[in-house]
Amino acid sequence: MSEAPVPSRPKSAYNNWISVIGAVLAVGALFSFALLVAMGFAQGDKNPYLGILTYIVAPAFLITGLAIMFIGAWLQRRYALRYAGQRPDRWQLDLHNPNQRRHLYILGGGATLFLLLSAFGSYQTYHYAESVQFCGEVCHQAMNPELVTYRKGAHARVDCVECHVGSGVDWFVKAKINGAHQLISYTLDNYDRPIATPVKNMRPAREICEQCHWPEKSLGNLDMTWDHFLSDRKNTPYSVRLLMKMDTGKDGDLHSGIHWHASPKTKVEFYATDRQRQEVVWVRVTDSEKGTEKVFRHADFLGEPPMDQIRRMDCVDCHNRPAHDFRSANDLVEEAMVRGTLPTSLPGIKRQAVQAMIQKEITTAAEAPGKIADHLRGRYKDAAGVEQAIAEVQRLHAENIFPERKADWRVYPNNIGHKDWSGCFRCHGNTLQTAAGQKVGASECSSCHIILAQGKGSDLASLTAAGLEFKHPSGSYDEELSCADCHNGGIQGK
Ligand code: HEC
Ligand code: HEC
Ligand code: HEC
Ligand code: HEC
Ligand code: HEC
Ligand code: HEC
Repeated sequence: MSEAPVPSRPKSAYNNWISVIGAVLAVGALFSFALLVAMGFAQGDKNPYLGILTYIVAPAFLITGLAIMFIGAWLQRRYALRYAGQRPDRWQLDLHNPNQRRHLYILGGGATLFLLLSAFGSYQTYHYAESVQFCGEVCHQAMNPELVTYRKGAHARVDCVECHVGSGVDWFVKAKINGAHQLISYTLDNYDRPIATPVKNMRPAREICEQCHWPEKSLGNLDMTWDHFLSDRKNTPYSVRLLMKMDTGKDGDLHSGIHWHASPKTKVEFYATDRQRQEVVWVRVTDSEKGTEKVFRHADFLGEPPMDQIRRMDCVDCHNRPAHDFRSANDLVEEAMVRGTLPTSLPGIKRQAVQAMIQKEITTAAEAPGKIADHLRGRYKDAAGVEQAIAEVQRLHAENIFPERKADWRVYPNNIGHKDWSGCFRCHGNTLQTAAGQKVGASECSSCHIILAQGKGSDLASLTAAGLEFKHPSGSYDEELSCADCHNGGIQGK
């Protein structure tokens, strides 16, 4: 090593250490990319997260590797130009140099390991990224409430990606970017609790839902019954049976009645000031055939809505919980009472069960069973049926209330009706008007449904086709109030 360094002229500017490392990275990434593409083909490429790995993560590494290669070559060339013939190349590979040779062996070993690891890593990551499993289970802390509610819904067999990621290049890319963002926030543990609605990033619902549903199909009425219990000692039952006016078919229109909003001919657009679309302050209806337009607005909203925030109403503005229906404590308890899984022989069980579920002291899922048991034992001691009631309320809690994630019906409104949330009354009712003072149509109780029967026992034995006046089960109240001013899915009044 005593000889004077021999100035050398690299054959290629890429013949230097920095570029070699960059090349190793790039080849590794290319290798993973090829593997991921192959896996995508094999699996039908249904999984958006596989897409993220394939089209975002692997290319990012590839580009970084290539960039390092070019930087190495650039430095090498600059160095060679400046010191041409005077000094040995700083970064050049020289296989005659034992020191460099040793480095090369180490690098070679490292590169092989890197290739193996990236192959293994992509395979493993892919494995975890399998559709519903990844979306719901691996990200379980983040997504678990959605998965649990989804499994109980009518769409439990519809993959997450069917609704959340559409087919077609543009939606694919949107979902990729959005998905990558979610992965990053999940990794950094700074995702929202509760997770905010992704509605803006979803495909237009008609495209999703109409793969399976034909809105034209629900011509006519839909007969629905709700069974309730009051929160008195007797658990007094109260049922209401409604005929929903789905599509009255008037004027030869394809849609009228409730599914009128979903008719291809109708265009209802609205602007809500909040992300959850609860505070609607502006609505525009365009009749494309007649060429007419009507704008309804809230008295306090004077400006124009921002163009990019105007949303065209579609299926998920009413059916916003087709897959993640976080049921309210009130509804869950009543349903269990109807089924008989919660013994109605326990006096005031409606009230106690709801209260046990919504105790403020429950801050983690793990402490729920104990606190629920304490609450109910405190009220009923060892009355018959207590153990059954405790087990049932614990189950209902576990499947519908997720304290750590702050996810339950209180933060995820269901827009289909109007009892516990504003729902239809976001637009219907008295708050929105045209300049001429016209209110959004269908604000009478009987415009959307008629009451066929209400009450209990023999009250329900006969139906009134013409419809009944609503008899509120706890007596009359100020007509100016809307149902959701009092009802919130917990226990009302008293
Ligand atoms: C039938 C369609 C459909 C399917 C299937 C579906 N979702 Fe959703 N999801 C929705 C809609 C619609 C919303 C928006 C609700 C809103 O804005 O009110 C949503 C919202 C969400 C949210 C935001 C939080 C919330 O509850 O609003 C998450 C997270 C989510 N979905 C995850 C999933 C996962 C994970 C799966 C699969 C296990 C899945 N989704 C399957 C339609 C679907
Ligand atoms: C892959 C097919 C498929 C897609 C896509 C789909 N659904 Fe459904 N949906 C079904 C099936 C099947 C049922 C009946 C399930 C049952 O009877 O339990 C159903 C039931 C329903 C019901 C009534 C039953 C209930 O309990 O909710 C509504 C409302 C509904 N879907 C709305 C939607 C909306 C809104 C979308 C779009 C966001 C959608 N569906 C997308 C297949 C689908
Ligand atoms: C204005 C709100 C609204 C819009 C928009 C809307 N629906 Fe509905 N839909 C309802 C109501 C209300 C019911 C009655 C069931 C209920 O109250 O739960 C219903 C019922 C249904 C049912 C169940 C019918 C049955 O026979 O059981 C399906 C399926 C359905 N809608 C699909 C759709 C699809 C698909 C779209 C979009 C093309 C859509 N809906 C748009 C309000 C709406
Ligand atoms: C985003 C605002 C909005 C929401 C939310 C909304 N509607 Fe409407 N709805 C309208 C507008 C606007 C009209 C047309 C009013 C007019 O022309 O006077 C309308 C009309 C109707 C009509 C009369 C349709 C006909 O045959 O002409 C019915 C019935 C109806 N809505 C039911 C519902 C039900 C049920 C819900 C809740 C599940 C609901 N609406 C939610 C905006 C809304
Ligand atoms: C804009 C349409 C619309 C108007 C107006 C309307 N409703 Fe409803 N109502 C609905 C829909 C849709 C549902 C079904 C909710 C669901 O599927 O969970 C419903 C459900 C109900 C229920 C059953 C809810 C339950 O949980 O027991 C009652 C009771 C009821 N409405 C009473 C009334 C009364 C009283 C009025 C007048 C003050 C009224 N509604 C006005 C659309 C309307
Ligand atoms: C002024 C407050 C108030 C308003 C407004 C109100 N309710 Fe109630 N409601 C109550 C109280 C209090 C009870 C009795 C609660 C109990 O015994 O559990 C009750 C009970 C009920 C019940 C049976 C028990 C339950 O919660 O399931 C139904 C169904 C109901 N109301 C529907 C409605 C509907 C629909 C509207 C709107 C059209 C409405 N209420 C408006 C206060 C109100």
